[in-house]
Amino acid sequence: MSDGTGVDTERETGGTEAIDPPASFVEQANVSDPAVREAFAENWPDCWERAADLLDWETPYDTVLDDSNEPFYEWFTGGRLNAAYNCVDRHVEGGGKNRAAIRWVGKRDETRTYTYQDLHREVNEFAAALRDLGVGEDDVVTLYMPMIPELPVAMLACARIGAPHSVVFAGFAADALATRMERADSEYLVTCDGYYRRGTAFNLKSKADNALLDVNHDVRETVVVDRLGDELGHHLPSHQRDYSDLLDAHAGERVDPVPRDAEDMLFLMYTSGTTGEPKGVKHTIGGYLAQAAWTSHAVLDLEPEDTHWCSADIGWITGHSYVVYGPLALGATTTMYEGTPDYPDRDRVWEIVDTNAVDVFYTAPTAIRAFMKWGKEYPERHDLSSLRLLGTVGEPINPRAWKWYHEHVGGGECPIVDTWWQTETGGMMISTLPGVDPMKPGSAGPPLPGVDVDVVDAAGDSVDAGEAGYLTVEKPWPGMLRTLYRNDERFVEECWQRTDDGGYRYAAGDGATVDGDGYVTVLGRIDDVVNVSGRRLGTMEIESAIVEVDGVAEAAVVGADDGPDTAVFAYVSTESGHDATAALRERIGDHVAAAIGPFARPDRVVFAPDLPKTRSGKIMRRLLTAIADGDDLGDTSALRNPEVVGEIEAAVRNE
Ligand code: WTA
Repeated sequence: MSDGTGVDTERETGGTEAIDPPASFVEQANVSDPAVREAFAENWPDCWERAADLLDWETPYDTVLDDSNEPFYEWFTGGRLNAAYNCVDRHVEGGGKNRAAIRWVGKRDETRTYTYQDLHREVNEFAAALRDLGVGEDDVVTLYMPMIPELPVAMLACARIGAPHSVVFAGFAADALATRMERADSEYLVTCDGYYRRGTAFNLKSKADNALLDVNHDVRETVVVDRLGDELGHHLPSHQRDYSDLLDAHAGERVDPVPRDAEDMLFLMYTSGTTGEPKGVKHTIGGYLAQAAWTSHAVLDLEPEDTHWCSADIGWITGHSYVVYGPLALGATTTMYEGTPDYPDRDRVWEIVDTNAVDVFYTAPTAIRAFMKWGKEYPERHDLSSLRLLGTVGEPINPRAWKWYHEHVGGGECPIVDTWWQTETGGMMISTLPGVDPMKPGSAGPPLPGVDVDVVDAAGDSVDAGEAGYLTVEKPWPGMLRTLYRNDERFVEECWQRTDDGGYRYAAGDGATVDGDGYVTVLGRIDDVVNVSGRRLGTMEIESAIVEVDGVAEAAVVGADDGPDTAVFAYVSTESGHDATAALRERIGDHVAAAIGPFARPDRVVFAPDLPKTRSGKIMRRLLTAIADGDDLGDTSALRNPEVVGEIEAAVRNE
C-alpha cells in the first residue's frame, strides 16, 4: 500500500492490505457516515453532545466543556443525572423490562439471567440495604468480588445512592486490598466468600479478612456474598452481613435514584503508575458514562437487542466500561463468565458464544494468541454465526493473531475493532469505526471522532509518518480521568505536559507510530508500566515487593518480549552473606504473589552480582530490557560498572 509519503505502510501494518468492512455490516451499523470525523472536528467540543444525548439527564447541562481551569477540565457542567437510572430504570420504563440485562455463566451447567426488571429489583434492594448500613453520598464503597452478578448489582446500587465505588480485582492479595481501602478512606466493603476455578472452590474471604486487619481506619460494615455455600465451611462473624439476608430484609423496597452532578465521582479505579504507589483514577458520572455509552454504540455497534460479551474482569477498567456501564446504558444484554477459557475444555468460550448467540465479542490479544495456539478445531466445534463484530483491547495485536481471529472466530465476515485506550481515558480513544473505516491488521486505527491524538517527539513536535514517538491526546475528552484521588499534583505532573501555546496535552505513556492515513500503531509502554496478560502492572510495585524479601539487596523489574507476549523479568542482587539459590528465587515469587497477587509473579528471576548503574547511581533499565530481549546493548559507556553486563547476560542465557 502506498500512502504518498514514501513510507512503507505495508511493513508497519504487517504486510496486509487495508480490509474494507463487509457491506452487510455497514448497512446495519449504528455509525456509517464516512464524514463523521469531519463533522465532529468542525463542531468540537459540542460534537460530544451526541454522546451525552445517549443518556437521560435529570437536569440538562449548560456547558459542554469547561476548560477554565486546565488541566482540570469539566464536562457537561450544570447537568444532573444518575448512572443507575440510565443503566437500569429507563430500560424498564421504556418497555425493556423482560429483556436480559445480564447473562451469567458460572460453573459447569450453572447459569443465571437477570432481566432488566430483575436487575432493577436487586439494585433497589441492595441500595436500600447500603443506605440502611449508613452509606451516604460520596462515601467510597470498596467492592472486592469475583465475576458474579452481585458485583455489577453492587456497583449500580452505589451509583443509585451517589456513593462512588472502588472495585478491587479479586486476584489482588490482601495487602493490595488494604492499601486501596486506606488510600480511599473507604469504610465499607462488599466482598464474597469465594469463587470457582476449574470446578474448585477458591477462598476470597480469608484474603478480605486479612486485609481488614491491616486497614488503619475503622471499617464500619462488611457485606459478604455467599457464593460457595458450605463448600469451604465459611462462618460469618456476627459483625459482618450476609448479602442475601440484607436483600430479604429490604425485599421489594425502592430507592429513588439520587440525581448527581455530572462532575460528581462515579468511581475510583486504582491502577499502576510509574511509582510503587497505585494511583486512584477518578472518573465522574456524566463524561464517563457518555463516552462509555457512545463508544459502545459507535465502536461496538451495540443495540438493545444485542448480546455483548466483553471477557475482561470487572476488576479492571475494561470490565467497568464494557461489561457494565456501556452495554447497560444502551439497554443491551451483557455476558459475564466466572471461569477460565480452557475448562472443562478449550472450546469453553465458543460454547458460551454459541449457547448465548453472542453478537459482539471483545477480548484481549493475549487470549486470542492462546486460542490460536490451542487450534482452530475448538472454535470449529461450535456455531459462531451469531457473531457480527469482534474487538480487542489491552495490548498491541500482532497481524497473525488478528487474521486468525478474523478467519476462525469471525468466519472472515466480522469486522474487528482494535481499540486503544486506558484506565485514565475511561473509554475507547483510537479505533476504526466498524461501519466506516477499512481495517489494517496490527494498527489500531485513526482516533475516534472528537478525539485528537498525536504522536510527538521529545520536543513535542509531531513526528513524520512511520516514525516512532510518544502517543499524546491534544484535547480533553469527556471520559478522561478528572484527577488522581487526593493527589492533584501527581495528576498534573504525571498525566499532562505543557504545550508551546501554554496549554496542556495528555501524555499516555505509550510509544506509537502513525501512517500516512492517520492510522496509529501502538508500540507499547515507554514508561515503567507493563501489560501482562491484559493486566496492568507497575514494575516499581513489583520491585518494592521483591526488596522486602530477606536477603535481597536490590531489584529491577522490566517487561520483556516473549514472542508477542510480555514476560516479567526481575533482576535481583543479593545481600552479602545470602546466596542466590533456587529457594530464594521461590521465596521472591511467593512474596510477590502474596503482596500483589499471583498474577504479578515474575516469569524470570535473574540473579546478578550487581545491577548495571549509571555514574549517578541510576539503574539502567533499558539495558536490562535489551538483555532480556536478546537485543543489541548499544552504548554502555555511561555505566559505572560495565563489567556486570556480561555476567547478567550469562545468567539470563543459562538459567
Ligand atoms: C495498552 C486497558 C495496543 C497500552 C483498556 C495502554 C493497547 C494500556 C491497546 C492501558 C491496543 C490498550 N493496542 N496497546 N488496542 N489497548 N493498550 O489501563 O499500553 O489496563 O497504555 O487499560 O494498555 O492499560 P489499562
